[in-house]
Order: sequence, then structure tokens, then C-alpha cells
Amino acid sequence: MTQPLLIAFDGPAASGKGTLASVIAADYGLPFLDTGLLYRAVGHVARERGLDLEDTQALGEAAQFIHPTLLEDDALRGREAGEWASRVAAIPEVRAALKQFQIDFAHQTSGAVLDGRDIGTVIAPDATVKLFVTADPETRAKRRFLQLIKANSALTFEDVLSDIRIRDERDSSRSSAPLEMARDAVLLDTTNLDIEAAIEAARSIVKARRGGV
Ligand code: CDP
Repeated sequence: MTQPLLIAFDGPAASGKGTLASVIAADYGLPFLDTGLLYRAVGHVARERGLDLEDTQALGEAAQFIHPTLLEDDALRGREAGEWASRVAAIPEVRAALKQFQIDFAHQTSGAVLDGRDIGTVIAPDATVKLFVTADPETRAKRRFLQLIKANSALTFEDVLSDIRIRDERDSSRSSAPLEMARDAVLLDTTNLDIEAAIEAARSIVKARRGGV
């Protein structure tokens, strides 16, 4: 029996991994989970309930009640939600509470595509294909700025670049499941690629890892 196809996309903020992951999921008819939304949802709940970021037990408990239906909320896609997500994502109790759901999603019999920071390293070290998608910080900030400016016309490029640098540093330096490339991942640098070229590059990597199919 052939193994289910399990594809892991990791990388820093606004590298393009989410877009690429959703296209590849559609190509192969696989269920897709944007795991950043789980952390964004926990951050959102923490903010709404006024939870203290030092109260790691309360945050871990809040994370246990995150349900897939909560992930539809548009409020999760904003700038503040990203900042809160990265703060709560550094808390081991939060990561522990979200872990099994992601492992189960990854290992369903249909196969799956997930994107995040620790998919290839922690959630699915056994993934069939692992991509680590990156781009230089200025390029990522430009992309993110163009997304966010639609909802917040007061935002500047410098604000977004600063957010990206702070998040890169926090995500890479935390002790619990930091952002890092799995040893067997393929690096895809999208700095000089437009979206079509990045999609073609991702498709080629997946195809090559699957032996040309
Ligand atoms: O879309 P963007 O790359 O800006 O962020 P995201 O993927 O929605 O993730 C938001 C934050 O959640 C990240 O900055 C990480 O701190 C955290 N995260 C994580 O720690 N582990 C994951 N598997 C996914 C996200």
C-alpha cells in the first residue's frame, strides 16, 4: 500500500508558504491546515479575555478549547493578531495543547498539507516532502504591507518591516519548537520569484521528491 502524501511547509512570516501550501493542497486534492491560525486564535482569545501572558497555565487551557470553526474569523488575519500569535506561540503549554490536533490532521489517511514553523521538525518529521520557504525581510515586509494596507491605511512599510524583524527573532530564538529548517527539507527562496514562479518551483520540488509524479 502506498503511503499517504504528507507535505510540510515551514518558514518565516510572509514568505509565501501559505499561498504555496494551499495551491499544492489543491493540486493533489489534499486537506490543508494553516497552523498559524491556531496560534492566532489563541492570541485572539487571550487578548479578548485580558489574559496575562505570564499566566502560562491559563493560556494553555485556553488553547485546549480552540476549535476549527474559530479559525474562520477575519480578525485573526490582522497585524495585531500576528503579533499576539507569536507571543503565545513561545509558551510551551500553548504548543503542547495544540500539538495533538496538528499531528492527527497531518496523519489522516487521505494525506495532508500543513504550513507553519515546526511542521517538518515537530508535527510531521515523517513528512513525504518538506519545504522551507523564505525570502529576505524587506521583500516579505513589502508583501505583507500590500496585504495589510487594505484594512489599515495608516500603516507604514517601516511598521511592517519592524514587526517582521521582531517576529523572526522571537520565532527563531524561543526554546520551544523554534523556527528552523528540518535537515531533510528543501529550501525555496522566493525573494526574486513572483507568485507564478514560486508556485512552479514548489510544484517541481514536490514532484522531484515524489520521484517525478
Ligand atoms: O502568516 P504569517 O507567516 O505572518 O504568520 P502565521 O503563520 O499565521 O503565524 C503567526 C505566528 O504563529 C508566528 O509568528 C509564530 O510565532 C506562530 N506559529 C508557530 O509558532 N508555529 C506554527 N506552526 C505556526 C505559527
